[in-house]
Amino acid sequence: MNTPSMRPRWEGLPDEVRAKVNARLGSPVVEVSYPEGGFTPGLAVRLTCADRNEVFLKAADLALPMASHYRSEAVVGEHLPSVVAPRLWWSLESHGWIVNAFEAVLGGQPDLRPGSADLPGVLDVVGSLEQELTPCPAPGVGPVGETLSSLAGHWSQLAAAGSGSGGQDSWAASRRVRLTELDDPDRLVKASAGDTLVHCDLRADNMLAEAGTGRIRILDWSWGARGAAWVDAAFFVPQLILAGHSPAGAEAELGARVPAWRAVDPEAVSVFAVAITGYWAWNQANGPGGALGAYRGRAAEAGRRWIDYRLG
Ligand SMILES: Nc1ncnc2c1ncn2[C@@H]1O[C@H](COP(=O)(O)OP(=O)(O)OP(=O)(O)O)[C@@H](O)[C@H]1O
Ligand SMILES: [Mg+2]
Repeated sequence: MNTPSMRPRWEGLPDEVRAKVNARLGSPVVEVSYPEGGFTPGLAVRLTCADRNEVFLKAADLALPMASHYRSEAVVGEHLPSVVAPRLWWSLESHGWIVNAFEAVLGGQPDLRPGSADLPGVLDVVGSLEQELTPCPAPGVGPVGETLSSLAGHWSQLAAAGSGSGGQDSWAASRRVRLTELDDPDRLVKASAGDTLVHCDLRADNMLAEAGTGRIRILDWSWGARGAAWVDAAFFVPQLILAGHSPAGAEAELGARVPAWRAVDPEAVSVFAVAITGYWAWNQANGPGGALGAYRGRAAEAGRRWIDYRLG
């Protein structure tokens, strides 16, 4: 996990940008607090105003490539129902920065471990996404196949580079034929077509369990896309495995609560599992180290266990 110090601070925003934000808030900021976690070097801060109103700000320098995600989050955020996500109050661009202001949710990251008190609520909200977000309410978002097809294709690159799967060469070598056969972007594009707004990054740190009620809200819709509802359940399986579920247990939890998961073509799920695991393995071996590299290493291991469960 990043520490908050890796992100810009509220005081670090250009004066002109802070002045614009203050004008939108209409009451002076009297308190700032920073969340823990995340991998993005963007500003994330809770602001409390003198009139006791609170807002959660995310902001990024438009010169950074990741700023496009903040723009996407603003586009998608306008269309999200509040039962699913914190409300987007407003978005502005000023002096080279984008700032998105959200309803500030008081709460913490839900616990995804087997038997946790948060898990039923988490699975319920994942299970509600198809109904809440079909037809896709955000007109501007692209097909999820574009995102998914960029995950596929890494197993052949790993084999060609001789770098194995993040240090697991023998695991990949003994499954090479099957991995190559399943690691197919075209199959992913076909199987993932649909008209639900899908999140594509469901993880505990993109969720908040509201203090008091325990209600789960989903954050960080910057990868939002149009596609089949099963895709978000598939993104969530490795997160449940990382939290301590067996692959069979993770799939069973989703099967009990997510209608789209019960209806999905099993082969499509295997194609997805192979693609995302290859993506993590390749990027662990060839991308940045640090917290992100370590996460990708753990995620790739969860993915290998998921693939073994599915392919036997
Ligand atoms: N509306 C909100 N209310 C309260 N806290 C929030 C809100 N939105 C985000 N947070 C907190 O800020 C953290 C970072 O938010 P988010 O995941 O949206 O950030 P990010 O910078 O886009 O990406 P990354 O996931 O890489 O950190 C969350 O894990 C959560 O703790
Ligand atoms: Mg996040």
